[in-house]
Amino acid sequence: MGKDVIIACDFDSGEQTLAFLDQFTDRKPYVKIGMELFYAEGPQIVRALKERGHQIFLDLKLHDIPNTVKKAMSVLSRLDVDMCNLHAAGTKAMMEAAIEGLTRPDGTRPLLIAVTQLTSTSEERMHADLLIDAPLADVVSHYAKNARDAGLDGVVCSPLEAGTVHEVCGSSFLTVTPGVRFADDAAADQVRIATPARAKDLGSDYIVVGRSITAAADPVAAYQRCLAEFVG
Ligand code: C5P
Repeated sequence: MGKDVIIACDFDSGEQTLAFLDQFTDRKPYVKIGMELFYAEGPQIVRALKERGHQIFLDLKLHDIPNTVKKAMSVLSRLDVDMCNLHAAGTKAMMEAAIEGLTRPDGTRPLLIAVTQLTSTSEERMHADLLIDAPLADVVSHYAKNARDAGLDGVVCSPLEAGTVHEVCGSSFLTVTPGVRFADDAAADQVRIATPARAKDLGSDYIVVGRSITAAADPVAAYQRCLAEFVG
């Protein structure tokens, strides 16, 4: 699977999202629809972006009891997105139920990946707030193994953890990595960050980039800079 840059379209309206994407005339970027946009616009924004020819990562990070996640995934499978996700913290049983729900009658399904630990979470906060005593790298590897055992296709993690995840789960297990910033950007609320070039060196399969592109003075140039650094 080729490396790609996914733009996090964290906007609160479809209008703003479409106007933003209208700027990209050369190449239709792979886009991520997260909670903000999905809660504002619902499934119609997914259909609209699909019609425009974008590949879509639907980032709704499901985390509930297995039966509820299975049923929700079954509804999402009808949207024909390319990738969707859940929290690995929901347990292997929840992840297995998710795969079952996501798989269409013809056996096809979107890629399903699991959030390990959010890239905004530091090891210190994980210890203090979540009472998880293990080192953060071990938690990420353990959650990744659970996801692989449940039949998922990969994980969301920091680029800093992509190498370890591949060592533990194999090179074809996908690492989708937010927490990407250019060397001259502000980190904002992200903690475990890397530049696109470093994410490439560390073995990320996809980088997810939000504000470094969406808040740039020239978003198309920022996207092209990401592609140049990450895809080459
Ligand atoms: O603006 P920024 O580049 O920080 O955006 C990162 C995007 O990736 C956001 O949409 C955020 O919800 C998402 N994300 C993340 N960390 C995860 C999973 C998803 O930052 N572990």
